Amino acid sequence: MNLNEFKKKAAWAALDYISPGTIIGIGTGSTVFYFIEALSTIKHLISGVVSSSISSTNLLKNNGINNILHLNDFNSLEVYIDSADEINNNMQMIKGGGAALTKEKIIAAIAKKFICIIDETKKVNILGSFPLPIEILPIALSFILNEIIKLGGKPKVRKNVITEHGNIIIDIYNLNIYDPIAIEKKISLLPGVVTVGLFALRGADIILMGTKDNVKIIEK
Ligand code: A5P
Repeated sequence: MNLNEFKKKAAWAALDYISPGTIIGIGTGSTVFYFIEALSTIKHLISGVVSSSISSTNLLKNNGINNILHLNDFNSLEVYIDSADEINNNMQMIKGGGAALTKEKIIAAIAKKFICIIDETKKVNILGSFPLPIEILPIALSFILNEIIKLGGKPKVRKNVITEHGNIIIDIYNLNIYDPIAIEKKISLLPGVVTVGLFALRGADIILMGTKDNVKIIEK
């Protein structure tokens, strides 16, 4: 099983969802890497992109996609293409393995359509085997670690990572996320939390899942 091949298939299939003249939200990660390669083949057809991270911005530029627009200039985008660390049957996701969750969540919020490109290993019944990332203000670390333990999670500070916004990432292990919306709300309300990597309130609209045989399309 070559996961990169599955990621690549899903990423290229996302081109079918790009309308000429639109501005595309671009996620972050190894699957998006393939999408950026695919997008470069139709770059003359799109009006621009909004990037979710410095690493994706660099990849876009390396692929000759230079019309990179500022997130703050938009409150609506036609489409957002990104991957996930896990996604369940209700199209709810864990994201943030690449530490870009805050901009990813803002882009997801303004996108009319979120297309999630994955290899088949990302599809799960219950979220939480992948540790849930949260971005927090450094000053809130001690308080938030304690609150997460009270919730039954095992928090670990991600080593040597400072986000683009100057914050830190905690990865929460041992959470069985039976009610993703409730957990997203609960953790988001803790003072000092910037972003929870649960995308449950705003999940994906379409999943493109690369498998050995084909790309499966799953719609809400
Ligand atoms: C980045 O912060 C994440 O949300 C990624 O979208 C997610 O981790 C998926 O990445 P891969 O495509 O590398 O698995």
